[in-house]
Amino acid sequence: MRLDKFLSTTLGITRKEAGKLLKDKMIEVNGEVVKNGALKVTDDCDVEFNGRSLRFNGPRYFMLNKPSGFVCSHVDDYNPTVFVLLDEVSPEKLHVAGRLDGDTTGLVLLTDDGQWSHRITSPRHVCEKVYYVELADPVPEETIQQFAEGVQLRGEKELTRPAKLEILDERAAVITISEGKYHQVKRMFAAVGNKVVALHREQIGSVELDEELEPGEYRPLTEEEIASFVK
Ligand code: URA
Repeated sequence: MRLDKFLSTTLGITRKEAGKLLKDKMIEVNGEVVKNGALKVTDDCDVEFNGRSLRFNGPRYFMLNKPSGFVCSHVDDYNPTVFVLLDEVSPEKLHVAGRLDGDTTGLVLLTDDGQWSHRITSPRHVCEKVYYVELADPVPEETIQQFAEGVQLRGEKELTRPAKLEILDERAAVITISEGKYHQVKRMFAAVGNKVVALHREQIGSVELDEELEPGEYRPLTEEEIASFVK
């Protein structure tokens, strides 16, 4: 992460104010005065302001608009991971709260707060996720009833939990599910003889993907968004 961004985050000031501190030679990195806001701060840097060491304190929470082609794991031999999209100190300490497939786009939540993400991903907590789906074949009305009753996924013992389906046009729909089984949406449509050709997550719980975020962009969650999962 750039030094000016690091200063604005840890001191709660604007980047312009951070620039002024740098210009005024108020900031030291590893014992040396630094004036260049573009300097990259890594985990092993000791950044000091007025003789006080600056550290990130408290957990971090972000939303990302995931582009297609990026995977949600930390390591992958073939594809870039979502973590390369983050300009943060120690991105390896963050994890995804509810992964998306490589070809799925849209809302991804990232945090280093394991208890918080557990509320989103644990099957014991009912957390709804909303997806926009495009299908290879027309979606018949009866799929609404089938998803409401639950469908049998290959390799699973129990039916899926009731899911809501809103048909938008012949081959497009919005589905709301409250579990997060592996490839769940794709497997649900496969179970009724259809095929997902595009999948985009719009919402998790009450947190909606920020329309201002272009694919690949991210922002910190607001206090309200963070608190919405802790009820
Ligand atoms: N369901 C899927 O099939 N894939 C995703 O990425 C998310 C939900």
